Amino acid sequence: MTGRLAGKSALITGSARGIGKHFAKGYLSEGAQAAIADVNLAAAEKTAAELGQGAYAVHMDVTDPASIQAAMEAVVEKTGKIDIVINNAALFTASPTVEITTQDFEKLYAVNVFGTLFTIQAAAKQMIAQGHGGKIINMASQAGRRGEPYVAVYCSTKAAVISITQSTGLDLIKHGINVNAISPGVVDGEHWDHVDSLFAKWEGKELGQKKKEVAAGVPFGRFGKPEDLVGMAIFLASDDAEYVVAQTYNVDGGQWMS
Ligand SMILES: NC(=O)c1ccc[n+]([C@@H]2O[C@H](COP(=O)([O-])OP(=O)(O)OC[C@H]3O[C@@H](n4cnc5c(N)ncnc54)[C@H](O)[C@@H]3O)[C@@H](O)[C@H]2O)c1
Repeated sequence: MTGRLAGKSALITGSARGIGKHFAKGYLSEGAQAAIADVNLAAAEKTAAELGQGAYAVHMDVTDPASIQAAMEAVVEKTGKIDIVINNAALFTASPTVEITTQDFEKLYAVNVFGTLFTIQAAAKQMIAQGHGGKIINMASQAGRRGEPYVAVYCSTKAAVISITQSTGLDLIKHGINVNAISPGVVDGEHWDHVDSLFAKWEGKELGQKKKEVAAGVPFGRFGKPEDLVGMAIFLASDDAEYVVAQTYNVDGGQWMS
């Protein structure tokens, strides 16, 4: 198999659908094997079957350290190693500050922050033991670059992902492990259908209205598609990114500059 990721073994959390599924597709097309690791095993199995050769499903709940470890072990058993991990699984919520619940806070921090940090840790242990480095890519968001009304919980989890990328990236590069992040803007799919429905509820909008308003503000001129992010995910997983350390890249049609 040829390609920029030929012979590599990748694990992508939350890849049963959405952006993660497209990352898996892109990695497969570059010659990697891809673990479709998701808390929804039935959906992961369906996606793996759809993506075909090189894709396989793994149950993984990133809020549970035992499940994280079991998923890493399943990948090593299947492919003999782990070269690339994408921390892509995340949850979203939105509500006025006075309506935020402790349950929502705990759920989002468990997946978006705890899940990212402890999946990095488990991947790093395996990569250090293997002795030839690796690539870890975290999914941040423009929401992590600044606050948004109603989005205190999600925005702060994504700011934490950027911070975790910096600290773990600076620490792990001595093992040849590059930790970097991608910061998307707005990407259409089930995630954004959910965002749209929450803004319909809290701002009294028609369904679909928030999407239209947000799309109108994207400098590129349209909503993002999962495919828009795949090139960056391939680059950051490839040998070309060897000297890229602890960075967060905006891939957002021009919405944020930093
Ligand atoms: N869609 C956007 O507009 C957008 C914008 C910026 C950043 N992002 C980020 O990109 C990433 C992917 O977003 P998406 O739109 O594809 O999301 P999505 O909601 O479509 O998919 C998330 C996936 O994560 C899985 N998941 C949820 N909890 C999990 C857990 N505990 N363990 C393992 N898997 C779990 C879900 O089953 C699902 O398959 C997320 O980190 C998201 O925050 C998305």
